[in-house]
Amino acid sequence: MPRLHATPITRSFPKTTVVFGLLAATSSLHLQAAPGAAEMVIHADTPQWTIDRHIYSQFAEHLGRGIYEGLWVDEDSSIPNTRGLRNDVVAALKHLQIPAIRWPGGCFADEYHWRDGIGPREQRPVSVNTNWGGVTDDNAFGTHEFMDLVQQLDSEAYISGNLGGGSVQEMRDWVEYLTSDSASTLANLRRQNGRDKPWKIAYFGIGNESWGCGGAMRPEYYADEYRRYAQYVGQANGSLPRIASGSSGEDFHWTDVLMKQAGTMMHGLSLHYYTVPGGWANKGLATSVNEDEWAETLRLTLRMDDLLVEHSKIMDQYDPEKRVGLMVDEWGTWFAPEPGSNPGFLYQQNTLRDAMVAALNLNLFHAHGERVRMTAIAQMVNVLQAMILTDKDRMLLTPTYHVFEMYKVHQDATFIPIAFDTPRYRHGDIDLPMVSVTVSRDAAGKLHVSLVNIDPKESISLRATVPGMTATQVSGRLLTATALNAHNTFDKPDQVHPVAFAGATLHDGRLDVQLPAKAIVTLELR
Ligand code: AHR
Repeated sequence: MPRLHATPITRSFPKTTVVFGLLAATSSLHLQAAPGAAEMVIHADTPQWTIDRHIYSQFAEHLGRGIYEGLWVDEDSSIPNTRGLRNDVVAALKHLQIPAIRWPGGCFADEYHWRDGIGPREQRPVSVNTNWGGVTDDNAFGTHEFMDLVQQLDSEAYISGNLGGGSVQEMRDWVEYLTSDSASTLANLRRQNGRDKPWKIAYFGIGNESWGCGGAMRPEYYADEYRRYAQYVGQANGSLPRIASGSSGEDFHWTDVLMKQAGTMMHGLSLHYYTVPGGWANKGLATSVNEDEWAETLRLTLRMDDLLVEHSKIMDQYDPEKRVGLMVDEWGTWFAPEPGSNPGFLYQQNTLRDAMVAALNLNLFHAHGERVRMTAIAQMVNVLQAMILTDKDRMLLTPTYHVFEMYKVHQDATFIPIAFDTPRYRHGDIDLPMVSVTVSRDAAGKLHVSLVNIDPKESISLRATVPGMTATQVSGRLLTATALNAHNTFDKPDQVHPVAFAGATLHDGRLDVQLPAKAIVTLELR
């Protein structure tokens, strides 16, 4: 489980002009708000970094019904499948263009022995998933099945190796099995099991939450272990990008030690931060959302901004060229389990509030895209803030799915900075920026503007100039709902879904937007 650290975050959210991604003096960009409309400048004339598509990666762990039932149903299932992977879920996920999938954990990764998951399925051992409900795992879904999922989704693999409960030899052997083109016994074993060519692996994680479920280590000890494992993984495949197990939330000391002791041996350092309204001991239900819970959730999720700033500052000290990526490979909401579900399975519903969390975090990842180069939402199907929920042969797309679908236009696009005085959303003691905006330009020159209005009651008029582009056409899509806890069910799977948005107009290249309350909009400007 993630742990919280006592170190307070001191940085607060900016109260005045926000200039995302511009290092230039902000004074020249200060804006006079026109009566009734909040003004914005979209600086298409000063394009910045590429928004790495891997920010849109996802996490699929052997946890509850995430893999088994959610993705894997076996070849002889009555649920239509391709080589055991359910067709409906794969088709829906494929539409999201998921850049990479992190597997097999999570905490599960540090108790997973890859040899259990290869060879004839009927001969594979049965193990106990001690982290998640103590249920048995017959290892039907192993390396080849995962790589088949990756292939069916046109995605890439992010494999998490077992440092906590495994050995250096076991980890390096997995890498050889996966990626060697030689005639070694392990490479031939892979061939014997049906895969001739080596697989390309996008990332290899060396342990997970090594401060907690992955071995309860101190950072100094883990840093040494990381170096040793990374060395042997590198011997098996020198070009494999290696990811070190990073901090949880505000554990800045962990980041400091890892960067100092092992920074030169890593491609990325992970960060985990969950949005847990009520705290770990008092989590509420996903569907229980009054305005207090709404505001508190969004306050907590926006702390991601402070975390990215603070961890990046530390990384900058050791790596000013930003060679090492900050990989937020677990993020999202964590609510109480749905009544009647196994508490160890982390099955939760997903509402408009989750959609807000997803969009706000993606906006932040774009804005920190110089350092944040990969993230993985937890998790893909049936676990925590999922894209898809399944019930036997039925499935539904969650509001979070729809955000990922609306936002996929930003993948690998160029980040465009904006200058914007956002009004505030205030509720009780909570005071947050009301509107979050992210803008990117794709390879074809189209501009995509995603806007999030977190205020549950107030709509807002926005007016934007776009130096560097004279747009003549605008279209858009809107995700909103009447109730704060609006969600899709198996009987009503289409309660929350994107619709065409007619609230944006262009006048001599200037953009006017009527942004509804509690809404997410993505516009396309041509
Ligand atoms: O995503 C669920 C769990 O959260 C992961 O297994 C672990 O890494 C984290 O504590």
